[in-house]
Amino acid sequence: MNAQEQVAEMKRAALAAFQEAGAANDAKALEAARIKFLGSNGQLKALKELLKGASKEEKPALGKALNDADKELTTAFEAAKSSAGPAKQSGPAFDPTEPLPPEKAPQLGRLHPLTRTVDQVRDVLHALGFEVVEGPEVEDERHNFDDLNIPKDHPSRDSWDTFMLSKDALLRSQTSTVQVRVMETRKPPLRVIAPGRVYRPDKIDATHGSTFHQIEGLYVDKGVSMADLRGTLRLMAEGLFGKGTQVRFRPSFFPFTEPSAEMDCTCPACGGPGCSVCKQSGWVELGGCGMVDPNVFKALNKARGDNAYDPEVWSGFAFGFGIERLAMRRHGITDIRLFLENDLRFLRQI
Ligand code: PHE
Repeated sequence: MNAQEQVAEMKRAALAAFQEAGAANDAKALEAARIKFLGSNGQLKALKELLKGASKEEKPALGKALNDADKELTTAFEAAKSSAGPAKQSGPAFDPTEPLPPEKAPQLGRLHPLTRTVDQVRDVLHALGFEVVEGPEVEDERHNFDDLNIPKDHPSRDSWDTFMLSKDALLRSQTSTVQVRVMETRKPPLRVIAPGRVYRPDKIDATHGSTFHQIEGLYVDKGVSMADLRGTLRLMAEGLFGKGTQVRFRPSFFPFTEPSAEMDCTCPACGGPGCSVCKQSGWVELGGCGMVDPNVFKALNKARGDNAYDPEVWSGFAFGFGIERLAMRRHGITDIRLFLENDLRFLRQI
């Protein structure tokens, strides 16, 4: 390679390096290329040394080639430098302390209102010594009906009132099944709550769904009375709806409690005088409750094969509330279907 060719070769390499670094916005690489080709110990300088040894005839052309290369490369370097301008070349690509515009900010999740309602009930009852337990959603007739003292001809056993899966498997229609499950495996005294999903083939409307949630409570000990039941439920109502909430019992019937009651509390929307939520009565219904029927204890003793739940020794109370209903009362929601639709516009409001 003669001197002219060496200059041309160096120029080609230098132009390519400047262009590449400029296109990549890489200020460091650009500076390194400048030092390599145009620096005081760079390749251009080294090639200029060749002039000294060049013949008389060669000198003018080589000198011109070197001068041209110098100009061209300096221009090319300047151009690459301005395209990798200072704003683009250094520092982090973004300011990590700058708040994001709302549409780009990460969306914070939250617990579903039904979960939060269960948590609230659980907090109150936990303080009273109740423990959270769970039971299966696929049950048999014994746990859903027989041992809860529900007679064979009870209408709730009709196949169109229960989701039957097979002859002896069904989707539980109430969380009272967990009462049976717990008493089967544990001895008294006990205090448990059992939140969970239940299923009924109801016609779906603003206040009914075929899948909903209940929370069951069971307390068995010596000398448990209706006063304990009422005191417990009053604390629960106050926990959900605020201090001063009053409760009342209306006589009712459930096969597994005797006596049985429907429990109401003062309307959380109006506080008593009457409004559209409580249909002007000042009270809203929350759920069912009562003293555990001795027949349930007897059925459990039979299943267990002992007399652990001797009805002469032990007494207890039980209650069951629809969680959707509690959440609707708490938040003034009028359509139960909203809980299942996963519409964030709804869920974010409560
Ligand atoms: N299991 C009853 C229902 O689903 C509610 C209930 C539970 C009533 C416990 C009394 C005691 O309606």
